[in-house]
Amino acid sequence: MGTVTVGAVRERAPGERRVALVPEAVTLLRRAGVEVLVETGAGAGAWFADADYTESGAHVVPAAELYRRADAVLCVGPPDPGDAEALRPGQVLAGLLEPRRHPEFVRGLAARGVHPVSLDLLPRTLSRAQAMDALTSQANIAGYKAAVLAADRYDRFLPMLTTAAGTMRPAQVLVLGAGVAGLQAIATARRLGAVVTGYDVRPESRGEVESLGARFLDIRQGAGSGEGGYARELTREEQHAQREELQTHLARTDIVICTAQVPGRRPPLLVTAQTVARMRPGSVVVDLAAGDLGGNVEGSEPDKTNVLDNGVTVIGAGRLPSAMATAASTAYARNLVALLRHLVRDGALVLDPADEITAALLGGGS
Ligand code: NAI
Repeated sequence: MGTVTVGAVRERAPGERRVALVPEAVTLLRRAGVEVLVETGAGAGAWFADADYTESGAHVVPAAELYRRADAVLCVGPPDPGDAEALRPGQVLAGLLEPRRHPEFVRGLAARGVHPVSLDLLPRTLSRAQAMDALTSQANIAGYKAAVLAADRYDRFLPMLTTAAGTMRPAQVLVLGAGVAGLQAIATARRLGAVVTGYDVRPESRGEVESLGARFLDIRQGAGSGEGGYARELTREEQHAQREELQTHLARTDIVICTAQVPGRRPPLLVTAQTVARMRPGSVVVDLAAGDLGGNVEGSEPDKTNVLDNGVTVIGAGRLPSAMATAASTAYARNLVALLRHLVRDGALVLDPADEITAALLGGGS
């Protein structure tokens, strides 16, 4: 019986502190008979030293050796095209490869006989795929961090507080988009004591928002449910009506956390510059959708915090999982261990196209 060798590379994208495997995951993989390589320094950004990996049973090696020896190369984001040239036919590259954003890259790998396994293509509503769901594990962290960031930038309390100096009113928090990140932002803001309202275009999210003790914001517009549990893109008229109605609510809100996304499309614009201009001084807007395709908030910039002339702070927060690199890497590594448990059979990596999960993950290369 052969042995499968996997290797976690050091992430090279600027500002990326996560790592695909953490020492705990190495232990689990070793126990399952998998050989583990980790690139020198790969865990440093998430506070895992090379010695921690060695102690867990991994071999810490330079990149060139890792690419030469691994059957499966594990990453968080897609590797640089230059590094990816070292991948050979028959090798697996597994990570959040973003095939919708970089279709040529992923197809190019497949054309060379490399197997691109894109965790972002996981069929998320399948219950047996849940342990591998890296989009969920990372969005959960982003939602939590967004609420904490907003609380930190807000110059008042989130909870109602009664002290000798009198009573302070609680903050009003509005979360736009109640998917994984939005629901975690709602839960976190609630734990901090804010009065929270949630909103989503998918009517089925109402129950989830309310079960967290938040109010659901009713906006008159058609149901926005699409395929696979995701939202559809709203029509131009619907988007316009949505923005108009939101404007009224936002003027009364202290903190807005925006998390709305539609797969494969630019994020919907929910908060216009005019709306932000009408918000109260001291309000905080966090845009998790901020990226190079734009965001939910007009004028928000990725990885930038802007205090506007009217005293509203707009935080463009595209990379929150990396800002909590230890938790994010730990969760991500568990997702990868679940993936490898799915793919390793009798000491070999098996990419069975008849398996619904495997076929979907390989989909970006076809
Ligand atoms: P996402 O990141 O694609 O989008 C975030 C949220 O934005 C979604 O809830 C979406 O409905 C909402 N949205 C889109 N356009 C909007 C607009 N114009 N205005 C307001 N909100 C808008 O979604 P995410 O977080 O990846 O989750 C997608 C769905 O998949 C959710 O229903 C989630 O609960 C479900 N899911 C189910 C899982 C399971 O069954 N195990 C696991 C993970 C997710």
